[in-house]
Amino acid sequence: MRPTILITKRLFPETVAFLEQHADVDYESSIDGLTSADLIARARGKQAILSQFTDALPREILSEMRGLGMIAHVGVGFDNIDVPAASEHGILVSNTPGILDDTTADFAFALLMAAARRVTEANTFVRSGEWKRWSLELMIGLDIHHRTLGILGMGRIGQAVARRAAGFGMRVLYHNRHPLPAETASALNAKWVGKEQLLRESDFLSIHVPLSDATRHAVGEAELSVMKPTAILVNTARGPVVDEAALVKALQNRVIAGAGLDVFEREPQVHPGLLELPQAVLAPHIGSATVETRKKMTMMAAENALAALTGTRPPNLLNPAVWDSWASRPEGAG
Ligand code: 8YV
Repeated sequence: MRPTILITKRLFPETVAFLEQHADVDYESSIDGLTSADLIARARGKQAILSQFTDALPREILSEMRGLGMIAHVGVGFDNIDVPAASEHGILVSNTPGILDDTTADFAFALLMAAARRVTEANTFVRSGEWKRWSLELMIGLDIHHRTLGILGMGRIGQAVARRAAGFGMRVLYHNRHPLPAETASALNAKWVGKEQLLRESDFLSIHVPLSDATRHAVGEAELSVMKPTAILVNTARGPVVDEAALVKALQNRVIAGAGLDVFEREPQVHPGLLELPQAVLAPHIGSATVETRKKMTMMAAENALAALTGTRPPNLLNPAVWDSWASRPEGAG
């Protein structure tokens, strides 16, 4: 029998076609995706779902999805899925790590540079016809080269950002629960420091931690208050890692100089204060949004789903112990 898969919202046609070659696919082609009630209803009788960042899959919803075998998530971050609850229900969960690291690091740098050199402000200034004369101080910004880059969260994406900083001759500091192995840190020319020192010494602070109870509001009023008044905060990780209201106050009061934000606490809502601040460069959660990378992410999720449903251990499992119990069932996996 062919496996059954629900695709929860718009996907690339080639990924849908690929899945349709191997499975019976229920495809929700809208950009809005499904309400929780519809998600539960449409998941009924399916073996797998291909989920996206906007699909909320907390415990209450997962417990209504008995019989579901797998959630193949398109994305590396999975804070929208209660993985322990999925494990309790015997649901495998996979994500798409690795393939988006360079693309997201490129975008973190794009935001950093745009905020430092006032690219979006300058663009608005020229388009609006305000540019009447040139002066030495016109749209004057901050240097990037040879400044200190602080990286909060030195996983794969943080390390990709550190590699980019080398080209700008930057000094790289990082803070992570566990320091990197010495040879990795030395190849990146990155030095582990405590969080306080990171905040104090960074000209640019780029956030790359996953969202968890431990990292929610990891950067709030207290942290912002020790940063340099010339510092720029970049967030391409998850919005709730930063206390957005505190950030608005810090920008308004010039506690820090600017921000480059791809993620927000209540997406797609953005704190109205941020919208009024030209020194905040804002983007709609597009860190991994290049044609190649987004296609690779959807194909990786599709392959994860099909692997599990045809009895092969998917490579990117977040709860591999569930696979071991699947595989030891009398009917086997798949
Ligand atoms: C994705 C992301 O585009 O991978 C992540 O964690 O935040 C983005 O790169 C999004 O998750 C797609 O569902």
